[in-house]
Amino acid sequence: MDFELKTLTLATICNEKADALIVLVPEGLAAGDDPVSALAALAIQSGDFEAKPGKLLSAYRTAGIAAPRVLLAGVGDASPKSVRTALIAAMNTLKTGNAQRAIVSFNALTELQPEMVRAAVVACSEAVYAYATTKSKPAPVKLQRVLLAVAKAASVKAGFDKGVGLVKGIELAKEWGNRPANHATPTLLAEAAQELAKLPRLKVEVLGPKEVAKLGMGSFMAVAQGTAEPLRFIVLHYEGAAKADAPVVLIGKGITFDSGGISIKPSAEMDEMKFDMCGAASVLGTFRALAELQPSLNVVGLIPACENLLGERAVKPGDVVTSMSGQTIEILNTDAEGRLVLCDALTYAARFKPAAVIDIATLTGACVVALGGVRSGLFSSNEALAGALAKAGDSSQDLCWRMPLDDDYADGLKTHFADVANVAGRAGGAVTAAKFLQRFVGDFPWAHLDIAGTAWKGGAAKGATGRPVALLVDYLLGQASATLPPVKATPKARPAKKTAPASKTQA
Ligand code: BES
Ligand code: MN
Ligand code: ZN
Repeated sequence: MDFELKTLTLATICNEKADALIVLVPEGLAAGDDPVSALAALAIQSGDFEAKPGKLLSAYRTAGIAAPRVLLAGVGDASPKSVRTALIAAMNTLKTGNAQRAIVSFNALTELQPEMVRAAVVACSEAVYAYATTKSKPAPVKLQRVLLAVAKAASVKAGFDKGVGLVKGIELAKEWGNRPANHATPTLLAEAAQELAKLPRLKVEVLGPKEVAKLGMGSFMAVAQGTAEPLRFIVLHYEGAAKADAPVVLIGKGITFDSGGISIKPSAEMDEMKFDMCGAASVLGTFRALAELQPSLNVVGLIPACENLLGERAVKPGDVVTSMSGQTIEILNTDAEGRLVLCDALTYAARFKPAAVIDIATLTGACVVALGGVRSGLFSSNEALAGALAKAGDSSQDLCWRMPLDDDYADGLKTHFADVANVAGRAGGAVTAAKFLQRFVGDFPWAHLDIAGTAWKGGAAKGATGRPVALLVDYLLGQASATLPPVKATPKARPAKKTAPASKTQA
């Protein structure tokens, strides 16, 4: 989807050529002399329309308005959340019709903040996104262009640009999350990372079974040994600051299919375990957005990618393996595999002397029970990092919630046969998983995001959400402006294959 930002007024949008005009209508709108606000005020007055977020009223071939379809979309208090609700409702209505070019008008709002425009861009893309890759005749997405009409483009351009960059990242995360496991193997994920690395300031290294064995990642290898599909360990670099600047390291769980292994899962909804690499997809998506937004900081992305299957060589309950850290692990349940691949990545992360390490994982069903699909679980022993991530979640509407890390939660991980067991009892499962990971955290601030409930939706709306790309990007942009001078977005010398300029701004 292409976005454009343009300075217009309630009067001039009436002459703007488009297939549809969406008017964001705030609570307490007063009628002016233009046809748009007159229409909206009349609709409210007559009781046929309420300016609440999610409420819509359609009109067709309205006098004085060039766009044939007019959609009044209530936006209540005009907060970013309300803008989001309004536009998801409006776009869901529009996308079933023939409209190719739509205008979203902010002109009826008295105040406009960049965050509202960003929320609008993200919401439009989210509502219109449709997965197509493995369909032989995908239904074409007709709605291709959205023009955001505002009173003064220059004052919200920052939010607009952020939104457009973010959308690229969210869409990439959704795409890889949604792909079936046979179309998103560890090898294919690594190839996607290599493709990404052609973008400005990105680099990638891909390690295979031999290199991983040499590093001593016995825990990661144990998960991968039940399948013929070879593992990959992907190392991405975004270089937006001086070499000496400590990077933020993102680690994404990349289980391309989680059958549970020998501790096999029940078959109902097992297909959804293709989404068990959504942590990895969120790292790819975040790097895609970084390439677009070019903030001045260094970021490293680590993706341990493999299948968790049950072949004749598969790891068995009770097996003891040696992690890269040297700690031995008794694998009591082969379905608790996420922590087994993440622990070796956490050990590997120390070599970057990171400013912070954040792992992102569809780690536990227990987190789904605790927080549902609204907030991701946030675990961190570092107050500043936890605070910054919670704040980024709020500002990007990609919410998370801090969970505890008391040492008493680790009691259940004790075993007679190794340094640690990979599972404790059923109680507090999201926390005990985090306590397991914490044992492998080196001398750096660390946070863990359990996205088991938020990374995808089940049921009729089954599909990846692209979360928590928005949260991560907001956090990273915050780190950049806080510590480093701006960097020019000059592409590197090596030829970059790619990417049409997708947005433009008219002042
Ligand atoms: N990928 C799953 C977690 C999961 C389950 C995410 C359901 C979303 C929905 C993870 O690898 C897993 O199987 N965890 C086990 C851990 C248990 C064996 C301690 C779980 O949550 O049941
Ligand atoms: Mn599992
Ligand atoms: Zn898993």
